[in-house]
Amino acid sequence: MQIWHNQPSEIRAAAAVLRAGGLVAFPTETVYGLGANAWLEGAVRKVFAAKGRPADNPLIVHVPGIRWLDGVVSNVAALPEPVRRAMAAFWPGPLTLLMPAHARLAPSVHPNLTMVGVRVPDHPLALALLEAAGCPVAAPSANQSGKPSPTTAGDVMEDMAERIDGVIDGGPCPIGVESTVVAIGRDQATIYRPGGVSKEALEEVLGIPVALDRHLLLRHADGGAPSAGRPGGVGPSGGVGPSGGVGPSGGMGQPLAPGMKYRHYAPNAAVTVWTGEKARVTDVIRTFAADPGRAPVAIIAPNRVRPEAVRLALTDTEPAGQAAGGRGAEREPRERAGTGAGVEGELADGRTRPVDWWPDPGESYVESLSRNLYRLLRAFDRCGAKSIAVAGVPPEGLGLAVMNRLEKASEGRVYRV
Ligand code: TXA
Ligand code: MG
Repeated sequence: MQIWHNQPSEIRAAAAVLRAGGLVAFPTETVYGLGANAWLEGAVRKVFAAKGRPADNPLIVHVPGIRWLDGVVSNVAALPEPVRRAMAAFWPGPLTLLMPAHARLAPSVHPNLTMVGVRVPDHPLALALLEAAGCPVAAPSANQSGKPSPTTAGDVMEDMAERIDGVIDGGPCPIGVESTVVAIGRDQATIYRPGGVSKEALEEVLGIPVALDRHLLLRHADGGAPSAGRPGGVGPSGGVGPSGGVGPSGGMGQPLAPGMKYRHYAPNAAVTVWTGEKARVTDVIRTFAADPGRAPVAIIAPNRVRPEAVRLALTDTEPAGQAAGGRGAEREPRERAGTGAGVEGELADGRTRPVDWWPDPGESYVESLSRNLYRLLRAFDRCGAKSIAVAGVPPEGLGLAVMNRLEKASEGRVYRV
């Protein structure tokens, strides 16, 4: 597998591989995509094989601009006015629009569906690649199906190794969660996957009602009695109920975005998510993590010293220094050592150790969580965490996308405390 960088000659080489039917992973502002020429059925099928992706889950087609919709969308001239408004306002950007599919597209791009998802990514390397390729590029996230999406070239290599022709290394993705998938009609729009463009922003630009697909409605139990769905031994105290989850449930019918019916974004460690009043969430997570039966527990929560940043800690039953790293297990390097005030956190009791720290000045907790979530889930897996406890965010703005991914990663173990 080749690794290309941002040199024009390297982008041209990657584009030639793509155009000829090869598989090329590339960075976008959301996550890394695994690209194939969307006009070649053979190339698109290789994407499904490389990812282990169910054949009925459609792919998003990427183009470098509105001018490139020919051969992707049928009857471009007939697109409703609100769709045009969305393209003008949000492209390039993390918004995937469902539009009538052109007959030239490989059938596997939109299996048994008349609509195709299309977007223009807001990333210089992605745009350069797409322009050089000269063909529309079908690209799902470049992870093994079911795993957290890749937000670095290293993540892509971890999952795809020799299954693809190469990856363009553009560093970490700035948004970190996938695009918003939306169908827009003349007088109403429906979001099938929340993402980088918020429902609120769409409403403001479109001037028509924007609904959430019913499978996306977050249903956090509110202090009710734990029910049968409660995972064994997870709740540190009574009065914590499980969430309904985002996934399909009995009697709700077929999800409209077919991807939503599969297990997704999940690391090997068991994820639990805690929402509610800040101090209470901190208390509950602390109690949860202090139970030696659950160790090693990884924590993702607001930093106490720098409350705008994500605080990371990994508790371990072994004394510090002899933990997983000492046994030769792979550990992420600590980036920007010295800037991580408070990384160790108060769970110390001689067992907490810092793992990763990717702060960005001025970020809110929700932005930091969005940008780092998948990297952290992957990093904590490599550290051998048995469970990961995450302080959730309000499901509004970018927070809706983050909570949607957390609901899936935790398989519905979201608790309001
Ligand atoms: O940010 C993103 O969207 C990234 C980057 C690489 O662009 N791509 C991405 O692709 O997340 P993927 O395949 O991992 O997710 C695509 C989602 C799936 O949930 C799929 O079901 C939905 O979009 N989707 C795609 N085409 C669709 C269609 N024609 N109808 C309904 N849902 C569709
Ligand atoms: Mg994906």
